[in-house]
Amino acid sequence: MNSVRTWTRSIGFLRSLSSPGSTILFSSAKQPNNPFTLPVHPASPRRTMTSAMAKRLEGKTIVVTGASSGIGKSTAKEFARTSPKNLKLILTARRIDALKQIAAEIKEEVGDGVKVLPVKLDVSNPADVNGFVPSLPEEFKEIDVLVNNAGLVKGVAQAPGIEPEDINVMFNTNVTGLINMTQAILPIFKKRDEGGRGDIINIGSIAGREPYSGGSIYCATKAAVRSFTDALRKELIASRIRIIEIDPGQVETEFSVVRFYGDKSKADAVYKGCEPLTGDDIAEVIVFAAGRRENVVIADTLVFPSHQASAGVMHRKS
Ligand SMILES: NC(=O)c1ccc[n+]([C@@H]2O[C@H](COP(=O)([O-])OP(=O)(O)OC[C@H]3O[C@@H](n4cnc5c(N)ncnc54)[C@H](OP(=O)(O)O)[C@@H]3O)[C@@H](O)[C@H]2O)c1
Repeated sequence: MNSVRTWTRSIGFLRSLSSPGSTILFSSAKQPNNPFTLPVHPASPRRTMTSAMAKRLEGKTIVVTGASSGIGKSTAKEFARTSPKNLKLILTARRIDALKQIAAEIKEEVGDGVKVLPVKLDVSNPADVNGFVPSLPEEFKEIDVLVNNAGLVKGVAQAPGIEPEDINVMFNTNVTGLINMTQAILPIFKKRDEGGRGDIINIGSIAGREPYSGGSIYCATKAAVRSFTDALRKELIASRIRIIEIDPGQVETEFSVVRFYGDKSKADAVYKGCEPLTGDDIAEVIVFAAGRRENVVIADTLVFPSHQASAGVMHRKS
């Protein structure tokens, strides 16, 4: 009982301290200009990480490539939810109908504060990429963040049996497409003060760090993304342009369906007995990286589900 009373008194004391204009006195309160009198400021709403991130992203224009499915689609929605008051999203992919559907879903969820522009864009086609920025409406031209997410894997063939078409599509999309997009957007960043500002967020993969058999071409493309990203960060060291790489481990999206040329049962077998990451898990990391204070660069991350410890080390429950 006594301890309850003591606790109640302490709470009362703390409450009295938090009333506007109150002071904490360490010695004689009667002395004027007492140097040990600390002002306690009126209670003000505490800034949380979420509210700070929303503020930092406010007013930005963000491009997401490969936004029609998986990680890219989740990223578009995560940006919209995190900063719903004033944001512009340019969503690109080849499937324009899917992008329009996502734009409608975002509008329904967060309202008119987020303006979404769906753009049909094949990153493996240099003409599409070259025409991208000039074709944007004026209000979407001042891009602040580029999420280079479009990418794919085709097949599990091993040399010398890899289809030349598959080699080309993987390199043209994952490497040349990402580099061309970066070159298209960087001049916008470089025009800004302090040597330029803006974010380039490249989606690599555990495959770029640890090549595995049956994935030689895909792994080579993601290793190329990693080298390009690291070199770019060094080249832009005198600017405020942040070069960020996020490397997911196993994520369940349309990725494996594309790898097996549309064979859903083969794709499902990849995740049998596992609990893979979701697109939303990676989207949270992407938005977190973009939402840091400008002087903070999340240069490199590797994200696994808890059952995965490397490209080949997985715990399967069954
Ligand atoms: N899932 C994983 O386990 C995993 C792991 C590590 C890294 N990643 C990487 O994460 C990124 C996203 O993949 P995801 O898992 O979300 O797979 P996903 O669901 O298949 O999404 C891939 C996206 O890329 C787009 N895309 C493919 N080729 C394109 C092209 N030529 N031009 C423009 N867009 C293109 C697709 O859109 P359209 O088909 O509409 O063009 C789609 O929106 C990729 O870079 C992938 O390598 C995935």
